[in-house]
Amino acid sequence: MYKVWLERGNLQFISTAYYFTSPSPSLLGFLLISIVGFFFCIKSGERMMDYMNLDDRSIGMFWVVSYTMAQPACETVMNWLTSAGVTEHLPGPNLQSNERLMVMREVSPLPISLLSGLSINLCLKVAFQMEESMFSGQAVPSIAMVETYCRLMLISPHSLFRSLLTHLTSRNPTTLTKPGNTILVFEILNYRFLSLYRYQGKSKTLMYDVTKMISTLKGKRGDHRIFRLAENLCMNLILSLRDFFFVKREGKGPTEFTETLNRITIVTLAIIIKTRGIGEFEHLLYLQTMLEQILATSQHTWSEKTLRYFPSILRDALSGRMDKRGLAIQAWQQAETTVINQCTQLLSPSADPSYVVTYINHSFPQHRQYLCAGAWILMHGHPENINCTNLGRVLREFSPEEVTANIYTMVDVLLHHIHLELQRGHPLQDLMLKACGNLSVFIWNHELLPPDILLLALIDRDDDPHALRIVINLLDSKELQQRVKLYLLNRGPPEHWLSPGPFKRAELQKALGNYLSWKE
Ligand SMILES: *[C@@H]1O[C@H](CO)[C@@H](O)[C@H](O)[C@H]1NC(C)=O
Ligand SMILES: *[C@@H]1O[C@H](CO)[C@@H](O)[C@H](O)[C@H]1NC(C)=O
Ligand SMILES: *[C@@H]1O[C@H](CO)[C@@H](O)[C@H](O)[C@H]1NC(C)=O
Repeated sequence: MYKVWLERGNLQFISTAYYFTSPSPSLLGFLLISIVGFFFCIKSGERMMDYMNLDDRSIGMFWVVSYTMAQPACETVMNWLTSAGVTEHLPGPNLQSNERLMVMREVSPLPISLLSGLSINLCLKVAFQMEESMFSGQAVPSIAMVETYCRLMLISPHSLFRSLLTHLTSRNPTTLTKPGNTILVFEILNYRFLSLYRYQGKSKTLMYDVTKMISTLKGKRGDHRIFRLAENLCMNLILSLRDFFFVKREGKGPTEFTETLNRITIVTLAIIIKTRGIGEFEHLLYLQTMLEQILATSQHTWSEKTLRYFPSILRDALSGRMDKRGLAIQAWQQAETTVINQCTQLLSPSADPSYVVTYINHSFPQHRQYLCAGAWILMHGHPENINCTNLGRVLREFSPEEVTANIYTMVDVLLHHIHLELQRGHPLQDLMLKACGNLSVFIWNHELLPPDILLLALIDRDDDPHALRIVINLLDSKELQQRVKLYLLNRGPPEHWLSPGPFKRAELQKALGNYLSWKE
């Protein structure tokens, strides 16, 4: 009587006839039917539940089951998420009416409507299993699994929230030593959980944890994608802080920031002090020490133009810093001959293929920091002939912070050269067009230099009359417009968790680019 079968994912009860015809079915009766029915379905079913096509009644039943039989329910969910997909039989264009095309439909994330009624016990079990599968399993986790995991965490923030980095490390200390896992965690944090941490008031804790990871990553060769994801996460966290003083007060704060983060921190601090003031007197006493900490490794000075917008207390504290740009250009001029020589061997069409490895193994850091500047100068002479493949191979072997330093240096050299060319009588319009065209080759065609870091570097030179014009030109370029368009096309509906149809996988790489993380 309580036999159950599965058809296109719908649980269909023979016994529902009993349920609907009996005059006043008790809840207990319904529960009994559900449980027994579901139990049969799990025990006997070779066939999988299709969680995308559950009707309301089946969803309700699954909720009930989640309270009473969490373990088997958890197993069916995990079977679904680790399976290859669902076969469907569809009518094809050139087929007889009784023939069907067999297609495999990719597994979709569990819909929010289903997740929202599950028992906390089941949620915890499934979350635990998914973590096991995503971070300790052999297979690459499916998008459906990762998305379901995120949805689960987001619908029960009070019961399920934990600091992901701490939680995963305490479960297994080696989890985050695997690059694949770290990328996945940072993607989840960047694209799904940022608001959750803010809601829980855990932004600062997250920033501490990410900063610790950044400090080991920034000097290591390679790992560019992990680093940029971590840096991006920190940028967002810093920009959303309302009180920066707490972060630094214990002294163990983000002394290990990257150059870009340090610069952003100062600007955030200026905005916080200007809009909220300084809350406590001891903050005032602490300001100078804090600035020294933040800027311990940074040579950057803010322009007069920018400082004018800073609160006076910060302006006074920073005004003593010497602008070392002149020295930086001198240092570049001293290294220029050697650097151009190396760049010629590395990047010209006649480059000896073995030189790439020689350069990677034997070049000195004081020359490596000028690689992009050198490539830029060389490009001016032979724009089409520069070997960007070799440049990319070498940059990828740099540490991420070395790439950042290269960009900041290149910007200074580039602006310096525009001034020189102007003095020689070249028209500005022409110089700008060429500079932007050549930068585009680096940024968009070959995806060598991350555009956000380059734009920030240019913006930080706002006292140079040409820097902001280049920024505007880059923001206005058709390449960027095209990427924005691609992004909008591919990102999927913004409220994807509400749409019941199949999940649209976002192919964002085309829009966002690979930037030194591509595989050969
Ligand atoms: C770049 O140089 C390498 C050897 O160093 C060569 O194999 C490759 O074809 C060159 N690519 C271009 C686009 O010139
Ligand atoms: C370069 O260094 C790598 C590892 O550091 C080594 O395997 C390789 O043999 C070195 N190549 C040369 C040409 O020195
Ligand atoms: C790059 O610069 C050179 C010389 O400055 C110029 O001739 C060339 O057209 C530029 N390339 C692009 C793609 O704009």
